[in-house]
Amino acid sequence: MVRKAIIPAAGYGTRNLPITKAIPKEMLPLGLKPAIHYIVEEAVQSGIEQVLIVTSKSKSSILDYFDHSMELEALLRSKNKEYMLKHLELPKIRVFFIRQPYAKGLGDAILLGKEFVGNEPFGVLLPDDFVISNQAPALKQLMDVFKETNRDVIGLKQVKQDQLKNYGVIKGSNKANHIEIENIVEKPKNDPPSNLAVIGRYIFTPEIFKCLEDVEEGVDGEIQLTDAIKGLLGTQSIYGKIISGDRYDIGILEEYVELMNIMSKK
Ligand code: UTP
Repeated sequence: MVRKAIIPAAGYGTRNLPITKAIPKEMLPLGLKPAIHYIVEEAVQSGIEQVLIVTSKSKSSILDYFDHSMELEALLRSKNKEYMLKHLELPKIRVFFIRQPYAKGLGDAILLGKEFVGNEPFGVLLPDDFVISNQAPALKQLMDVFKETNRDVIGLKQVKQDQLKNYGVIKGSNKANHIEIENIVEKPKNDPPSNLAVIGRYIFTPEIFKCLEDVEEGVDGEIQLTDAIKGLLGTQSIYGKIISGDRYDIGILEEYVELMNIMSKK
């Protein structure tokens, strides 16, 4: 059973500058709630019991958001505005935090969750990737494959040819209800191995931590998750699942605006 999940939220959010100088990308509003609220809710709706949010020095607003606000609650009560207390409700789940000293890459952020995870399978949700689906939440779709196979599962999405250079792209073969991953290429400049890109939902077994520890810094000094996945591929099967639903990357302004419109109506 997958009970725990890591949400890496310590990146600099450079694509969203200048707002991210002062507001973390994960705290950008979607309606009147910040993006990360919905990501934690997705974890809850997928059956996760504990999440670890990886933050950084300049992102205390994420901790503040998931804290209880006794003062506001008291104020609303004293003004007979109890009906507004529902706006202070948080997703019902235990939330833990750890700080990444500096943004050394997604792989490094996930490695910080090693002690939190212990010896269990776990989920990873990237808080800038959203999937709006009328079926099960994105993470749950992967958990269903994990339940059947007991193997690591990576979320995939078909992406237009000219966009593949921005993603990890897999080579794989079709199985009954999933794809067996044979190779994964990070941001292929030419000849992408397929049109299936990795999107920000994963189920890993704790073996990934050993691979993350073995990964060396890439050209940009970052510890890449893709390199650890490649390492894992050498020792065990990894599956991919094409996630059903519409995907939005809030690091892309047009997609953020579109998502904002959708969520404001909810
Ligand atoms: P991204 O690369 O999409 O986010 O990482 P970023 O680096 O913040 O944004 P850009 O590319 O500069 O615009 C995916 C997720 O991983 C987290 C980010 O916060 C984001 O939610 N991340 C990334 C970390 O937690 N630590 C890192 O070192 C890198």
